[in-house]
Amino acid sequence: MRTETPQTLKLAEYRQSDFLIPRVALDIALDPHATRVRATLEIEPNPAGRVDVPLALDGDDLVPVAVALDGEPLDPQTFTANADGLVIHQPPRRPFTLTVETRLDPTANTKLMGLYRSRGVYCTQCEPEGFRRITYFLDRPDVLSIYETRIEADAAEAPTLLGNGNLVASGPVGDGTRHYALWHDPHPKPTYLFALVGGSLAKISKPFTTMTGREVEIAVHVEPGKEGRAGYALDALERSMRWDEEVFGREYDLDVFNIVAVSDFNMGAMENKGLNIFNDKYVLASPETATDTDYANIEAIVAHEYFHNWTGNRITCRDWFQLCLKEGLTVYRDQEFSSDMRSRPVHRIAEVRALRLRQFAEDAGPLAHPVRPSEYREINNFYTATVYEKGAEVIRMLRTLVGEEAFAAGMDLFFARCDNAAATVEDFLACFAEASGRDLEHFALWYAQAGTPRLAVTGRWDEAAKTYRLDFAQSIPPTPGQPTKRPALVPIRLGLVAEDGREIPATSPRLREDGVFVLDRASDSLVLENVPVRPVPSVLRGFSAPVRVSRDLSEADLLTLLRHDPDPFNRWQSAQTVAIRLLTRAAVDGTLAEEAVRAYADALAAFLDAEGEADPAFAALVLALPGEPDVAQDIGSDVDPDAIHTARERMRALVGGALAPRLAVLRERLASRAPYAPDAASAGRRALRNGALDLIAAADPAAGIVAAADQYDGADNMTDRLAALGVAAHTPPTPRREEMLADFRSRFDGEPLVLDKWFALQATMPEAGTLERVERLMADPAFSLSNPNRVGALIGAFALSNPTQFHRPDGAGYAFVADKVTALDATNPQTAARVLTAFNTWRTMEPGRRAKAETTLRTIADRPSLSRDVSDIVGRMLG
Ligand code: BES
Ligand code: ZN
Repeated sequence: MRTETPQTLKLAEYRQSDFLIPRVALDIALDPHATRVRATLEIEPNPAGRVDVPLALDGDDLVPVAVALDGEPLDPQTFTANADGLVIHQPPRRPFTLTVETRLDPTANTKLMGLYRSRGVYCTQCEPEGFRRITYFLDRPDVLSIYETRIEADAAEAPTLLGNGNLVASGPVGDGTRHYALWHDPHPKPTYLFALVGGSLAKISKPFTTMTGREVEIAVHVEPGKEGRAGYALDALERSMRWDEEVFGREYDLDVFNIVAVSDFNMGAMENKGLNIFNDKYVLASPETATDTDYANIEAIVAHEYFHNWTGNRITCRDWFQLCLKEGLTVYRDQEFSSDMRSRPVHRIAEVRALRLRQFAEDAGPLAHPVRPSEYREINNFYTATVYEKGAEVIRMLRTLVGEEAFAAGMDLFFARCDNAAATVEDFLACFAEASGRDLEHFALWYAQAGTPRLAVTGRWDEAAKTYRLDFAQSIPPTPGQPTKRPALVPIRLGLVAEDGREIPATSPRLREDGVFVLDRASDSLVLENVPVRPVPSVLRGFSAPVRVSRDLSEADLLTLLRHDPDPFNRWQSAQTVAIRLLTRAAVDGTLAEEAVRAYADALAAFLDAEGEADPAFAALVLALPGEPDVAQDIGSDVDPDAIHTARERMRALVGGALAPRLAVLRERLASRAPYAPDAASAGRRALRNGALDLIAAADPAAGIVAAADQYDGADNMTDRLAALGVAAHTPPTPRREEMLADFRSRFDGEPLVLDKWFALQATMPEAGTLERVERLMADPAFSLSNPNRVGALIGAFALSNPTQFHRPDGAGYAFVADKVTALDATNPQTAARVLTAFNTWRTMEPGRRAKAETTLRTIADRPSLSRDVSDIVGRMLG
């Protein structure tokens, strides 16, 4: 019996738990179909809770076997136990022990939540509410318990048995066909951080000595035979641990740290205490099977999950409304780590590109919500770009606002004050208010108000007065449930660049020494003094706030910034702004301003000549045109994806044609004779070389496919091979192109993670036959609807990354995705709901597509027995 779970949970209605569970002992006997879980809970009334209330433990799909209180079987009259919960009507008013036995079938668990089996390996996923699928408990993040876990299994089926904390004992059971391991985790934690693993796994490990000299064993466990592909993840873990000591002063706090890679996993990875469980695509890498992007993702995600040990585990969240407290902060931390390991400006640009692609789109659509939502129906649907990426931007703004020193002091205070506690965003901000002596009331609005502020900037130079005046105006469009908005507090980092490229040291009492102007009202002006020559203003340097900027700069001025701005982010941004303007105009009017494209291409040529080889990774970013979604966002309404695609292809062809001779030379010079290495510098050279190939092919597809085939055949690494295949796949249909695709399929038969690249590449081909191709690929023996990676690679990529074909004017793309979403919903609702978010932009489409999308969404909404995950998304989408 679920005690009346309300439809919508509200932040304002938070109430402490009436009971606490300081200790729990779990005894879990693994079996493919009949796993037995015996849970011994030490329960006590919470002195801060209500008295004389029933004890209601959460459950989900559980089969109760036995219940005892203080060792005595409970009278059936005094409790209710069923699949959804266990209620003791009149629990003792003193501490007591509850023993509950449940039985479950891990093999039948297709939701991949709770305890399940992935290719025969027993594993768990408990965040956010999966623990209740293992045993009855107070499954909420503010109930912290010390866990002791005994795991027992068939010794042949599961020679490796892993749990949270430290290993206390292990050995055979009875005649030795079964064995056990006993794990103890001394750190109190909420249910969502519980984990266990049992299976046949290979291990690589090394010792790590912490900053205070403690010896820790760090290890990565993978499918036997894949050990050779786990080394990069293990090294990334070591770098993460060292970095957190050096930059945040955070030391690891157990004797072992285990990472386990599994093949069936809904998310990327999970930070369970001392036992991180990963989607194997974020662990396994070899030069032949993984791209530079894969290596970078592995490094970032290993770091992210490790950093949660402090931001998330030692300090956890009071409730799920506070999710950004751990996720936004930890994304900020992993971004800083990656920036230190690689190139800071290049990484910053990549972060902003991802933010705009996903978060700005979310913020502009029907699923928009604040970084800290005030209500939800299904928490699984709130692991969003807003909570994560905008959540990280808010932390970055906080640092900009209070300054480096106060930020570090605030973090230290937070670690000291909230350790072993379940905290809120208010607790967090209080530390920074204290450390900086600032009132953060207005800043805190970033957590409560949804929507992306639009910032209009205009400037005027007064030659006589030698001043430059900047006028700022901000507005925030309405979002669901928030029709009106208050102006945000926007830290704007800025500077003035002279046409000859020098930075003009302009001053104003209102401009901070570090070049930051804080806009805290709807409109404001800043007058800068000592400006002897006409400057070009460079605003929002480093993307100092997550806003959309429009500025009154000419294309010539923007190209001056590309050439001279000391801020690399704005150099890149200026080129992007020029290109977006041209593309938007071309998509809307159908005419591409060829003269202006030539000026843009000339500026790129000058840039490449001057410094293309000095920082190839940066050059590759400058060279890449904005994506079709960037243009769609800029247009904003009545979007025609075909018009955008056509405009972009034409511009690519023109730019490619103008740069072709240079690009060919560059490709020669950047070619590597050394064996593959995944470091950022080598990756940057490959990125520029492959970007050049892409542009060459855009201008001359016939020459392009020859060059691509050549590179494909000669490649010694996946980055170059896949880039070549991608270029070929985007050339017009030819036998050569299909031969290359077929070669890749047979070359990597038996390599599911590599075949995912093959699925995704074909799912994103921007041509008329793609939907039929995707339907064909669903019949490939390597495809399976029950594996989230396969689903993401084929159906997810088609829905989320193929604008022209998903949004086919005949609605066939919508119908196909809706069909797969409803099929998936029956087995894995979380994955189904994620694919469904592809409809996010439906209201911005031109009327024909909009009508087709709406009909499709209504068909989904009308289906009986939708999961809460899908019904929540479709409801808000139509809402
Ligand atoms: N805590 C999450 C994993 C998670 C997400 C569990 C949603 C349950 C529901 C983990 O720390 C995480 O954020 N993982 C990300 C990758 C990360 C680098 C942003 C993921 O899985 O995508
Ligand atoms: Zn996380």
